[in-house]
Amino acid sequence: MSIRVLCKQTIVLGVTGSIAAYKAVEIASRLVKAGAHVDVIMTEAATQLVAPLTFQAITHRPVTTDLFDPRGELGIDHVALAKRADLMAIAPITANTLAKLAQGLADNALTTTFLAVESPVIVAPAMESHMWLHPSTQRNLDTLQAWGTTVVEPESGHLASGAEGVGRLAEPVSIVDTIRFVLGRDGPLAGRHVAVTAGPTREAIDPVRYISNHSSGRMGYAVAEAVRDLGARVTLVSGPTALRAPAGVEFVAVTSTHEMRDAVLDVLPDVDAVVGAAAVTDYGPAVSSEQKIKKAEGGFSLELVHNPDILMDVKAWKEARERTHPIIIGFAAETENLIENAQNKLVRKRMDLIVANLVPATFGSDRSQATLIQVDQPVERLPSLTKTELADKLADRLVYLL
Ligand code: CTP
Repeated sequence: MSIRVLCKQTIVLGVTGSIAAYKAVEIASRLVKAGAHVDVIMTEAATQLVAPLTFQAITHRPVTTDLFDPRGELGIDHVALAKRADLMAIAPITANTLAKLAQGLADNALTTTFLAVESPVIVAPAMESHMWLHPSTQRNLDTLQAWGTTVVEPESGHLASGAEGVGRLAEPVSIVDTIRFVLGRDGPLAGRHVAVTAGPTREAIDPVRYISNHSSGRMGYAVAEAVRDLGARVTLVSGPTALRAPAGVEFVAVTSTHEMRDAVLDVLPDVDAVVGAAAVTDYGPAVSSEQKIKKAEGGFSLELVHNPDILMDVKAWKEARERTHPIIIGFAAETENLIENAQNKLVRKRMDLIVANLVPATFGSDRSQATLIQVDQPVERLPSLTKTELADKLADRLVYLL
C-alpha cells in the first residue's frame, strides 16, 4: 500500500556497521512498499554484516559502497545522491559514524553524502549502552541535533553483547514513521494543532474488571498519522489499545471516559480541530468497588450512570466562548438508518463533519465503507477504503475546513 507522503520521494538510506544493520533491510522494504525510491549507501563495515545485493534486490536500485568506484554513480558525481535526496536517513548509525559526522569528516560515500545533503536528515543510533551513554556520543548527537538532524532514540532491551540496556535500534516501523513525520512537516496543516481521540475507554467495575467495547483504535491512529503527515501538530488522546504511539505526535494515554474528556479539555484552548474517533464508553458503574467483588449466590446487578459526552463538551466550550474553532469532526457508528442517525448527531453535537459507518462490519476490520456528511454539502458515499485511505480523505477535508 502506498503511503502518500512517501510516494515517489527519494530516500537516501545510509547503513553503518552495527549488528542491527540487518534491520535496515526491513526499513528499505517498508519504504519501497510505501512507494518511495530508496538509494542505499553502505559503509565498508556494514558490508561485512549484510550483503549489498540484499538491498539491491529490495530497492531495485544500485547500492553505493565505494566513493571511488569508477562504475558507480558517485565515481562520476560524488554528490549525486545528496542532490536528489528528499530525505537522508542513517539507520543504524554507529558511534563511529556519528563522531565522523559531528566532525565533518568525508572519508567514505556515506559521510560525504551527509556533508553535501540539503534535505532533512534522520539518524537512528544503535550501540552498546556504555558507548551510547559516553559523553562523547551524547555531545556528537547534540551537535547533529543543533544542525536540525532528527534523532530516533534507541530503545532499551537485549543488546548484541548479551547485556540488557539502552542502545537497541528503534523498531523499523518507528523509523519509517519518523521519516513520514519529517517529510510532512511543511505540509498544508503546518502551524495547525489537531486533537484526536482514539480507541475505547474503560469503566472500572472493580480493580480487575471493566466495561468497554471492541474498538481497536486503528481509525483514530490512522487519522493522527494522516494529519501529522500533512504537517499538523497532533495530540493523540488514546484509550487502551495494542497500537504503537505514532512518531512525532504528543501522546496522552488515558483509561476512562472522564480521563479522556479531561485530556481533551486541557488542550482545547490551543487546538484548531478535534477529531473524535474514540469509541467512548457511554455508561460506567455508579460506584467502582475498591476491592475485587466476590461472587455470591444468585444474580448480580450493576447500576450504570451516564458518562460525559466529550464532543458535546467541546461544543459547549465553543458556544460559551462564541468561537468557531475548534472544528469538530465526529464519527457515527450505526447498525441501522445510517444517514438519518448520523445527520442527527451532526446537528446535535454541532459537528462540522461526520463520518458515518455501519457497524459491526467496520469494528476491528482494516477496511471501512464510510459516508461523509458535512453541513451544507452533498452527502458523499465513499467506496470501500482502508482506514489509512479514509484517514487521508479526512485529512484533506480538514485542510479545506481550516
Ligand atoms: N462521543 C464522545 N463522547 C461520548 C460518546 C461519543 O465524544 N460519550 C463521540 C464519538 O467519539 C463519535 C461521536 O461522538 O465521534 C458519536 O459517537 P456514537 O457512539 O456513535 O454516538 P453517541 O452520541 O454515543 O450515540 P449512540 O451511542 O446513541 O448512537
